[in-house]
Amino acid sequence: MATKPVSSGRVNLANLALENRIVGGKYRLLKSIGSGSFGEIYQGINTQDGKDVAVKIEAIDVKYPLLRYEAKVYEQIGPHAGLPALLHYGSEKRFNALVMELLGPSLEDLFNLCKRHFTLKTVLMLADQLLMRLECVHQHCFIHRDVKPDNFLMGIGRNCNKLYMIDFGLAKRYQDPERCQHIPYREDRNLTGTARYASINAQRGIEQSRRDDLESLSYCIMYFNLGKLPWQGIVAPNKQQKYEKILELKRSMCIDEICKSWPVEFALFMKYARNLRFQDEPDYVYLRQLFRLLFRTLNHHFDHVYDWTHLHQQQKERERERDRDRDRDRDRDRDRDRSRRDPQQLVELEVKRLRRTRVEQSRLSSRLEIGDGHKHKHLDDKQLK
Ligand SMILES: Nc1ncnc2c1ncn2[C@@H]1O[C@H](COP(=O)(O)OP(=O)(O)OP(=O)(O)O)[C@@H](O)[C@H]1O
Ligand SMILES: [Mg+2]
Repeated sequence: MATKPVSSGRVNLANLALENRIVGGKYRLLKSIGSGSFGEIYQGINTQDGKDVAVKIEAIDVKYPLLRYEAKVYEQIGPHAGLPALLHYGSEKRFNALVMELLGPSLEDLFNLCKRHFTLKTVLMLADQLLMRLECVHQHCFIHRDVKPDNFLMGIGRNCNKLYMIDFGLAKRYQDPERCQHIPYREDRNLTGTARYASINAQRGIEQSRRDDLESLSYCIMYFNLGKLPWQGIVAPNKQQKYEKILELKRSMCIDEICKSWPVEFALFMKYARNLRFQDEPDYVYLRQLFRLLFRTLNHHFDHVYDWTHLHQQQKERERERDRDRDRDRDRDRDRDRSRRDPQQLVELEVKRLRRTRVEQSRLSSRLEIGDGHKHKHLDDKQLK
């Protein structure tokens, strides 16, 4: 059994010093923003229109090239709301580059930002979009085969509430789009994907189909609920034995046990995915409806306020506060420097400061009069007397 083949890509890329390089004639690489098992992701800029882009890089001599294939999958699925737009694919002298729309943090990043705890509201709002993304990919005759929180990213700017699916290097056509013929059932496959989220059948070496993406998704969703899946943290002498232990736990634990203390809908979802037959088309609408009804029963509103939204707001407020402090300190230092140079200026500055304070005081008292009504006004009058 094997997961993704280990590439030599990262080692080779480390020597390339790619910052500032131009790819595809107009995209300048700015800085590395991520790395995966196959290479490096850079933030870049389109030098013609100034738009931000993301560039996935793969060394030209990599053992198992995947980037051209990934570009083809993006092309074949076509532009879609939940997938990053493909902008360019090409080979440079020493590396291949796939240029796409720049996205924001992954669900794994956001889960960490939220101290590895998502509320039910966030999980359900995500589940709805996660199911839509899978449905879209499946409708275009592909299965993803590496469904995990790192491969779902939120957008940026006006798309910051939209969920995107990425990383199609392991995707596979499960059906011929013209003849609608499904790939045949086989039992001699190596595991493709990530053991933690892989379906039981994928770990057993059975050819993957739509049901396996769905089962992986059910594990992702429970991962968000629980903070950790029961088969995480297993220690074994080697990878092979570790995967065997993971599989053993997945098979032996009953679903109601995995999902205990959570609304029954989560167990229903996992059971549904595990009971699908090889060629079955999942009923995505039924599954979304299941979660939507629960969402409504809990009186939530689908307002796209996720757990991290508040954290982002708090973070922004803290940044603003820090900026204000910095400005105040800078002003004070500047005044002090000036006054050291010229004692006369020190007097002028002190006069100015006193005037500023007086203006602020009078502004404050007038605000009290306007804002708090007559009661305070009388009080102020008395105090003034
Ligand atoms: N369009 C994008 N915008 C912003 N960040 C991105 C984008 N695409 C990828 N990333 C970042 O780079 C990381 C790795 O990308 P990707 O999953 O495509 O590479 P990979 O080598 O196939 O990864 P792995 O095998 O580890 O899943 C992502 O998890 C994400 O953090
Ligand atoms: Mg990935």
